[in-house]
Amino acid sequence: MDPEEVLVQWIQGQRLKAPQMKDGPVFLRNLEEAMDVRRADHGLFTRSMSAWKSGKAIDFCSNDLLSLGSSGAIRTAFLHELETHPKFNLYAGGSRLMDGNYQYIEEVEQEIANFHGAESALLVGSGYEANGAIFSAIPRPGDAIIYDELVHASTHDGMANSLAINKTPFRHNDAEAFREVLVSVLDSQSMIRNGQRSILVAVESVYSMDGDVCPLLELLDVAKEVCPKSNFVFIVDEAHATGVLGPNGAGIVQQLGVEKDIAIRLHTCGKALASTGAVILGSNTVRNTIMNFARSVIYTTAPSFPTVAAVRAGYNLIKSGATKKAQDTIQRLTRYFFQAISASSVWEEATSMGILSIPLCDDWDEREVLTHIVPVWTRQRYNYFLVCHLQLSGICAFPIDYPTVPKGQARIRIIFHSCNTEAEVDQLVASLCKFAREMINIEKGEGITQKVPQAAQKVYALMAQG
Ligand SMILES: Cc1ncc(COP(=O)(O)O)c(C=O)c1O
Repeated sequence: MDPEEVLVQWIQGQRLKAPQMKDGPVFLRNLEEAMDVRRADHGLFTRSMSAWKSGKAIDFCSNDLLSLGSSGAIRTAFLHELETHPKFNLYAGGSRLMDGNYQYIEEVEQEIANFHGAESALLVGSGYEANGAIFSAIPRPGDAIIYDELVHASTHDGMANSLAINKTPFRHNDAEAFREVLVSVLDSQSMIRNGQRSILVAVESVYSMDGDVCPLLELLDVAKEVCPKSNFVFIVDEAHATGVLGPNGAGIVQQLGVEKDIAIRLHTCGKALASTGAVILGSNTVRNTIMNFARSVIYTTAPSFPTVAAVRAGYNLIKSGATKKAQDTIQRLTRYFFQAISASSVWEEATSMGILSIPLCDDWDEREVLTHIVPVWTRQRYNYFLVCHLQLSGICAFPIDYPTVPKGQARIRIIFHSCNTEAEVDQLVASLCKFAREMINIEKGEGITQKVPQAAQKVYALMAQG
């Protein structure tokens, strides 16, 4: 599928459907009406195939960060795992607590726990399930949860099923805001203040839609200072750090050497590790509590051998150091991008006019660690113009809009992978700059009579063709 076809499919997906179904079954009409609300904002999720998958565009969007999938490295490691265990079963045979347990999964969990310097590891089907399990099972009645306002939807869903007495967000990555919330929870909850109940702090080491890193040490210091009874615990979701950041990709917690200060860590396997599943790290008590109280673990079949073998294959690759070069490449390419875009001739004008904004570009050279996630902002009403522009210039990057981010905060998320090249980054920068120049000219009315950029005109023409 080429970039134009992807756009056509997406455009078709945004056409309102319910009005044509007046005489159709009410059940289906109501469903289409619900989706029409999203279509009206061009926000219906569609299943179009990314153009990079057919080699007709560049991948700046997938989660195959270390390119273990596209290079075939994970397949080779997985096949090796199968060869080493030729009598493997495709089934687990039951839930983990009822006949679904087996030696291999126990061994792999212990290996992963050792790699991460944790007492135990619990493998589950996905990061979504893991957060659901953690946040529904761990908070005991009377405990409070304090969470960064940008935590993932799975954490929100887990919290919604929790017994916590109080769930309060704090402003994103803001240690002072965290302090205020912590103080107010201590003031209002006597059992927590007296040290009879706990405060659970939920953060992500790297934020999925903003690409920034949690100021974990600062937050830990605040908690230690404000909580005299030390009855706080941190839960860190490392989904976007797994495999790419920290020693051999072990994550930010290990990079900072604060494993002992963090009660629970979550590592997901569907991103850099190029398979599926997730690992919950913690003490044996945490693991047993989750296994006993998390409905998503109790009432489902245990991960089967192929899932666990793929997870082990991914971990073997990062543990061996085979992915070190790929990790460094991501850092180099991200740096290269920041350098190139900020040195471009249009940058100052575009940013001062608000036509282009890349918050992570502001102090990139002062940050020790860069992440592979770089959101690019333009004026909200130009967001889909920019998506179309990038798409038509052969660059696959996804628009991120409500409900994934709050209303009015739509942006385009660029993701760098180890298989990207400097030439591809040049192409990305050139495309962004061309768009910025075109929009500057439109706003200033210089040499351009129409108000809509070329890419959007092309899209409108495609829409008109049906
Ligand atoms: C921060 C975070 N946690 C958890 C998840 C869920 O992981 P999974 O895709 O394995 O369900 C995601 C997925 O995007 C995520 O970004």
